[in-house]
Amino acid sequence: MTRSTTPETIAREQQFAARNYAPLPVVLERGHGEWLTDVDGKRYLDLMSAYSAVSHGHAHPRLVRALTEQAQRVAVTSRAYHTAALGPFLEKLTRLTGLERALPANGGAESVETAIKAARRWGYQVKKIPQDRAEIVVARGNFHGRSTTIVSFSTEDSYRDGFGPFTPGFRHFDFGDLASLEAAITPNTAAVLIEPIQGEAGIVVPPDGFLRGVRALCDKHRVLMILDEIQSGLGRTGRWFAFQHEGIKPDGLILGKALGGGLLPVSCFVATAEVMDVFEPGSHGSTFGGNPLAAAVGLEALEVMEDEGLVARSAALGSHLLSRLRQIDSRIIRAVRGRGLWVGVDLDPALAPARAVVERLAAKGVLSKDTHETVIRFAPPLTISRAALDWGIDVFIETLEEFEPAPAHKADVNQADVTALPATPRRKAAMKSQRDTQRPTARPATRAHLMMSAPDHFEVSYKINPWMDPEHWAVSAERLASDAKRGWQALKLTYERLGARVEVQPPVRGLPDMVFTANAGLVLDRKVTLARFLCRERQGEQPHNRAFFEALRARGVVDEVIDTPAGLYFEGAGDAIWDRQRSVLWTGYGQRSSREMQFVLAETYGVPTVALELVDPRFYHLDTCFCVLGRGDVLYYRPAFSERALGLIEDLVGRDRLIEASDEDACHLAVNSVALGDDAVFCHATETLRGQLAERGYRTHVVPLDSFNRSGGAAYCLTLRLDLSTPVGAAKQPIFVEDDAVELRAAA
Ligand code: ARG
Repeated sequence: MTRSTTPETIAREQQFAARNYAPLPVVLERGHGEWLTDVDGKRYLDLMSAYSAVSHGHAHPRLVRALTEQAQRVAVTSRAYHTAALGPFLEKLTRLTGLERALPANGGAESVETAIKAARRWGYQVKKIPQDRAEIVVARGNFHGRSTTIVSFSTEDSYRDGFGPFTPGFRHFDFGDLASLEAAITPNTAAVLIEPIQGEAGIVVPPDGFLRGVRALCDKHRVLMILDEIQSGLGRTGRWFAFQHEGIKPDGLILGKALGGGLLPVSCFVATAEVMDVFEPGSHGSTFGGNPLAAAVGLEALEVMEDEGLVARSAALGSHLLSRLRQIDSRIIRAVRGRGLWVGVDLDPALAPARAVVERLAAKGVLSKDTHETVIRFAPPLTISRAALDWGIDVFIETLEEFEPAPAHKADVNQADVTALPATPRRKAAMKSQRDTQRPTARPATRAHLMMSAPDHFEVSYKINPWMDPEHWAVSAERLASDAKRGWQALKLTYERLGARVEVQPPVRGLPDMVFTANAGLVLDRKVTLARFLCRERQGEQPHNRAFFEALRARGVVDEVIDTPAGLYFEGAGDAIWDRQRSVLWTGYGQRSSREMQFVLAETYGVPTVALELVDPRFYHLDTCFCVLGRGDVLYYRPAFSERALGLIEDLVGRDRLIEASDEDACHLAVNSVALGDDAVFCHATETLRGQLAERGYRTHVVPLDSFNRSGGAAYCLTLRLDLSTPVGAAKQPIFVEDDAVELRAAA
């Protein structure tokens, strides 16, 4: 074995490089996905991803290809000319952000500068602030970059010391405090510039409703709301942009880091036309900004993010990361904060200085980064596998245990806290089993609001899925129809007994499958996306569904009724299952609904979507083979899915939360069930399934629905939930918060 070259390499860099960083003693040479390798061949798990710049993982093959292909064509032309690459990149970015124009630059700070210039000009030209008096309100603890103007409004001495004189025109308020913000606004305020979550300050998550409050204050005082989402944007927090957590839109948005796909510095200021149009030719620019190489990589970075469902990965794996970290039983930990795959663990510096922990982690092959002496930040690539993430968390737990003081040194030993014990194999086992058994508990369900369609004309008169057999139905049509009515009534009664309110849609003669209300549309956050059926036999239902939803809108039950875009098919909640546990919308395609609906729904609702390919014609809607139970467990039938879909399910849900349906249950359409908190309504359940459900704390209710089974439908198909909503606000990050208000019992 050859001697390590690490010490020489480090010494050389230290001699010739400016001393403005204090890197960990690791010399990295190669990177692939979430793994880095040093010059000695040692592997490291990257839980930092260059402060979110490497959200796509290292050397993503599609991004490397986009980079090399464009480099061979043309890389840099300057904006003195047009190029073919820029338009598509900026078009995509404006579509994703919901804003109108984009101004590209390189490092993030350049786009912060762009935003400041835009805000000031807007202040003078549009708001008519007196010349040179425009002010921008910023938060204490902010971090927006390192230029002289940007450090002028930093509140961190180490960023400012010796760099004056400073740029005037900035006022401070306390992050998260709306009263303090309003007090800082004057008639000369042009903009509020903030990070939705303060990264460098230690992953500081503001209280629920803060961004909404900022939006309201900005509107009230005619001030621009500008968000620096250089780190929080592009999926990092489990939404495309952090502002989507609160259903608001900024006037200007600063993006960077992951926009370059981990290969190049690419940043952008994106804004409304009113803001951006203050720039005329000559007023601002950048030689490298928007160069073809950057544009090609930037566009591919956005497309990879869409195609690989990275936002949903961040939401689901982020929930998992946060909940595992919150369950660590250690007195070293003072707080765990974060959203999505972005978490800060605040440590007690007297017990474990963050830098020392980070060094120990690196020695064990896990890369993270300390900030402000006490916080360890985790921001892994969004592509990280669940197994790698779990390994990284295990190593972190083990490392913390090594820092745990012996009980004798504890001030309050007499509390006999488990955490006071030194690390032993037994204690490790105890912690692990605690983690494994710690499960969410349910509060009584809030009153669910459901829609059903009356079964008066239900029959099987045509065949659009393998379950349907009109000839067989004809033999005993009358009995089957009356059975159906009885089953439907029993189902409705069961819901009502469980506290639900049920709206009944009138039946229509000649449209038997209208009884399968789940296919009428998707209702989320009071917004209806109307179904468009693939099968002509069901298309006649569309106008009736529209009329019913319009009536619900008139009554104030829903706010908006939207069409599925022309050319696409969508069979409603049957192929779009909201998972509040993970804050993702699972969509099904391959049988009925179009694959592209994942993007349409992501845009309409501002939520991450996961697209699962269905490969078995018997399981033609996602709801026939996939069910999210009240506590976040997922019941599913493996043969219905493609390999890729199975991989996604395993990674995003986790094996401990998956229940595999047997052939027998699946072929009785048992998976097509309705979860109301800890209650679950099935049309069938084998003893095995009942046992699995009981073990996990569910009460199983079985309502036989044989007649509907003959059409390939069961409980879920017959029901549409009208009151599904995405959580609003930061603190309500749905770690273990279910739609019926299920939450994790406070850890120990
Ligand atoms: N016969 C109907 C069809 O094939 C059954 C619909 C069942 N609905 C459901 N959401 N799985 O369209």
